Amino acid sequence: MAGAYILGIETSCDETAASVVYSGERLVSNVVFSQIAAHQPYGGVVPELASREHLKAIVPVVRKALADASQTYHSIDALAVTQGPGLAGALLVGIGYAKALAFALDKPLIAVNHLEGHIHAVLLEERQKNNREMSFPVLALVVSGGHTHLYLAEQQDEHWSYQNIGHTRDDAAGEAFDKVAKLLGLGYPGGPIIDKLSPHGDPTAVKFAPSQLKHRDRKDNGDPVAGSRFDFSYSGIKTSVLRYVERHDMEASIESRRKALSKMEKPALEDYLLHCDRQTLNLVASFQRALVGDLITKTLAAARACNAATLFVTGGVAANNELRRRFEQDATMEGLPAYFPSRPLSTDNAAMIAAAAYPKFLAGEFATMDFSAEAGMVLR
Ligand code: KG4
Ligand code: ZN
Repeated sequence: MAGAYILGIETSCDETAASVVYSGERLVSNVVFSQIAAHQPYGGVVPELASREHLKAIVPVVRKALADASQTYHSIDALAVTQGPGLAGALLVGIGYAKALAFALDKPLIAVNHLEGHIHAVLLEERQKNNREMSFPVLALVVSGGHTHLYLAEQQDEHWSYQNIGHTRDDAAGEAFDKVAKLLGLGYPGGPIIDKLSPHGDPTAVKFAPSQLKHRDRKDNGDPVAGSRFDFSYSGIKTSVLRYVERHDMEASIESRRKALSKMEKPALEDYLLHCDRQTLNLVASFQRALVGDLITKTLAAARACNAATLFVTGGVAANNELRRRFEQDATMEGLPAYFPSRPLSTDNAAMIAAAAYPKFLAGEFATMDFSAEAGMVLR
């Protein structure tokens, strides 16, 4: 089978993205238009606004991805688009556009699960480095603003299958980063800011009890892997941060920080540091330490229980410096090879969608014209 240039399109949340990937192994172009500036005044993603921003950006973003790849609408072999999970209205913009393009060009269209995309971001970059030998089973932690999911992944010929063995019961890890940053007046999105501020605080200053990172047990269905042991819960730690703020009368200083930072278009690290006292920096560092520790402990416990041979950590939160460093260190100690996407491919992008589409292209798994967005799409 000859290679194929696949044009990927991703509009599941607040990034309008398009990319050309060759045969799931070479990133040829990668364009990501972030809507952060549009959502920033609201402290989070506004679904209706996201759809409108995608509508404005989709055509130029796709054109640029083709131009950067020295490709044309006619020269590509297939199109791929995110079907779900995500915001329904946002997904529909990408799907409608991809369908129209596929129909007009008479090219095959492949529907991709966004979470499978995050997993294939790792595979794309490893293939690009000429690392084609992954040992199975692969345990993948997909950790982002919407998900904290553990999947056991298997490959048979061109077919990939996934078993979900753990997920968050409430807030996703990235959501906890975003909510804590918001309640401390640090702006949106919170993950990258907390990541940068944490090395400036003492991560042992504030203690979070293990019970604050625990979920109420769901019924074990008898399957040792599908039981409740690998679920996550991050709404408790967010509430603990709020209680800490109340107990230590930090509200006034948070409000003045919020005001000062909101006047700046793109605050630099120095600006944040200027407006954060020691107590805030210690709280931020302790929060990150506790959350990252919990992600690692549970993921490595799952890896042991499932005899995982390889570990993938992917999704927006996988861009976090402390998480990468500690995962690498702790997984290596257990003899488990750990892989991460590069930072640009950790957060949402369309290269991961084009890469995940390639096995489906080879298997002839094409979408029919009547498929639609699936906001709550599961990965199997
Ligand atoms: O994968 P992604 O771009 O979108 C979703 O599918 O959700 O992930 C976005 C999430 C946001 O919650 C953001 O705060 C978080 O990833 N994030 C980070 C970092 N960079 C992005 N969290 C911690 N540290 C980072 N460096
Ligand atoms: Zn994502």
